[in-house]
Amino acid sequence: MGLTSAQLDVVDLSPRIGSEIRTDLDTLLSGDEARSIRAILEQRGVVFFRGLDITDEQQVAIARTLGTIPTNEGDSGIYKISLDKNVNQRAEYLKGSMFWHFDGSLQPYPNLATLLRAITLSDTGGETEFCNTYAAYDDLPESDKELIANLRVVHSAERSQYYVRPEMSFDEITFWQKSPTKSCPIVWTHQSGRKSLLLGATADYVIGMPVEESRALLARLRDWATQPQYVYRHQWQPGDLLMWDNTGTMHRVLEYPVDSGRLMHRTILAGEEPLQ
Ligand code: OGA
Ligand code: MN
Repeated sequence: MGLTSAQLDVVDLSPRIGSEIRTDLDTLLSGDEARSIRAILEQRGVVFFRGLDITDEQQVAIARTLGTIPTNEGDSGIYKISLDKNVNQRAEYLKGSMFWHFDGSLQPYPNLATLLRAITLSDTGGETEFCNTYAAYDDLPESDKELIANLRVVHSAERSQYYVRPEMSFDEITFWQKSPTKSCPIVWTHQSGRKSLLLGATADYVIGMPVEESRALLARLRDWATQPQYVYRHQWQPGDLLMWDNTGTMHRVLEYPVDSGRLMHRTILAGEEPLQ
């Protein structure tokens, strides 16, 4: 048993990342434990609640106790994650979520956190993996901390699309290049003073570094951050409500069939820390 507060039992699932929080729906809806839940989330990277039979409205209400929901995020705060084009028109784009990433890397304020509730699961695949980018930074050798301390990376939507469609046409490339790119430090120094690594599928190149060296460094750091000791793999059960700290983790979903029927209901919490 890990951290425990009055109405929460926290069961850690591995030393560095991932906890199940056991509590009841009334406690979650009341917001009485919202501060504790946010603190646990920041420490553990990923938390989930199981067996609570939560509705969409309750999911949104729980999210509101924890932060602010951006106004453009789906109808009434619920956005449907599915690879079926009939359910989500951006299904093709969502295939990018099968590669390590954090959400909102191109936005001035990356999302604080994401809540995902399992509605329908795939018979095969569809587990979601998370890695703790605070822990991965902390454990880096001093020489690597010095090497990356002042490096910046250009992130682009175009780069992440090569994972999904390696041979994009000129028109496709031109389309993705319309999305503005963004430069981010490799090391995010948070307002708390803690530091995490910023990598992922949108990470294109390190500014001022020869391309081969840049690609090799980004791959080496991703390999490091996704070693087993930093990773938690969630085996979903219907109804699970899971939440990740999007500022201190990366995630990816393991491959699943497009026609599997897998459906998740997502609610986002708006970022509170600028990333410049
Ligand atoms: C997301 C995402 C993973 C999943 O919603 O941002 O990456 O398991 N989802 O569907
Ligand atoms: Mn994602």
